[in-house]
Amino acid sequence: MVTIQTHSSEETEALGRALATFLPEEIVVALIGDLATGKTCLVRGMAAHFAGDDVIHSPTFTLVNEYGPGPCMYHMDLYRLDSVAEVADLGYEELFEPRQAITVVEWAERALPLLPEKRLEIHLEHGGGDIRKIRIENHGALPDKWHNSFPVPKPSVVS
Ligand SMILES: Nc1ncnc2c1ncn2[C@@H]1O[C@H](COP(=O)(O)OP(=O)(O)O)[C@@H](O)[C@H]1O
Ligand SMILES: [Mg+2]
Repeated sequence: MVTIQTHSSEETEALGRALATFLPEEIVVALIGDLATGKTCLVRGMAAHFAGDDVIHSPTFTLVNEYGPGPCMYHMDLYRLDSVAEVADLGYEELFEPRQAITVVEWAERALPLLPEKRLEIHLEHGGGDIRKIRIENHGALPDKWHNSFPVPKPSVVS
């Protein structure tokens, strides 16, 4: 587990970029945290790595966005869904199956039973003011010693 504190949206975005360079090509990343804890901000940074010059959209209305020619990144936001059943009804389970892509799920707590057990969980919390505490937990998706090589952008604080 790695816990990182960021102090601005720019720092959270930089963490997203660093994270994107580090992830294997096939992984599901579950983002878990309250409103305005920086989930979309983190994803924007990740998408910037994959998208190159593509425009980065919020998936609030489309629910799923895709970035990059390959490896590609899917960004899903389950905010507007109320239940696991609804996620399943929409056929989203397919997106969680192993594939050559990075699949990032915002509001993943709304679909945890549908997500693969092997996943990266990122828990985001408010830390007062502009501080966000971002805890990265590997659930069998990365090699055991992953935290030794995790690239934390300065000046974020790590513990
Ligand atoms: N350290 C920080 N990291 C990320 N966002 C921050 C930070 N400090 C302040 N903010 C603000 O918090 C909000 C986070 O929004 P967003 O990324 O959309 O959150 P979420 O997707 O979790 O609802 C933005 O308005 C951003 O400017
Ligand atoms: Mg969001």
